[in-house]
Amino acid sequence: MMNLSKRLQLVASFVPDNTNVIDVGCDHALLSIYLVNTLKNVKVTASDINPNPLKIAKENIKKYQLEKKIKVVLQNGIENIDEDINTIVISGMGGILISKILSNKEKLKNIKNIIVSPNNDFPLVRKTLVKLGYKIDKEQLVIDNQKTYLVLRAVLGVSPRLNYLFGTLTNKSLETICYYTNLLTTNTNILKKMPKKYFLKRLKLKHENKIIKKFLRTN
Ligand SMILES: C[S@@+](CC[C@H](N)C(=O)[O-])C[C@H]1O[C@@H](n2cnc3c(N)ncnc32)[C@H](O)[C@@H]1O
Repeated sequence: MMNLSKRLQLVASFVPDNTNVIDVGCDHALLSIYLVNTLKNVKVTASDINPNPLKIAKENIKKYQLEKKIKVVLQNGIENIDEDINTIVISGMGGILISKILSNKEKLKNIKNIIVSPNNDFPLVRKTLVKLGYKIDKEQLVIDNQKTYLVLRAVLGVSPRLNYLFGTLTNKSLETICYYTNLLTTNTNILKKMPKKYFLKRLKLKHENKIIKKFLRTN
């Protein structure tokens, strides 16, 4: 069995069975391979914007003799997505790029599930998904190689009102407590150095710290 990172294992665990998935920015295609090997009934397309990672993806797919099960496609984001695909996975990219890829709204008409794992800009990704008509169904933070990643699943549907800073996370897991405690420390250090003339930025950070403290205190 292949050695998949903790982060990618969590991403894979968020992908429902009986779906037709596109793994956007597949790189080595290890996630695509893991999905077809672990789910009973899944169709997978591995896609990337760059030919070099796709070459490695094809070699890995061949190594696991999955050429008939995984389709490999060179494309930018979801530009030429097949009509029968209903699930998008995008992991290991920045939140701004993920949001930009997803904002190709007309390509989302058959998409029921979106699983994303941004490296940063978590609030922006949540806001983008909600604005596109998706509801956050499940999310979890994972620490891998000393970095914290978010893994999030959104399903088609109307979202309840959300604070995009926390989404649907609660302060019950160690990873979540660590992440927001670190954010509080980072914000406090920025505030200490930020000149008073940046009034609005200071106000925003102070407000963020106030709601983080409240989040961490909530039972
Ligand atoms: C850091 S790798 C992430 C690989 C894998 N998804 C993971 O989570 O480990 C990012 C990959 O996204 C690809 N990529 C970047 N922009 C893209 C875009 N607009 N459309 C498709 N793939 C893109 C890159 O070529 C690269 O292979």
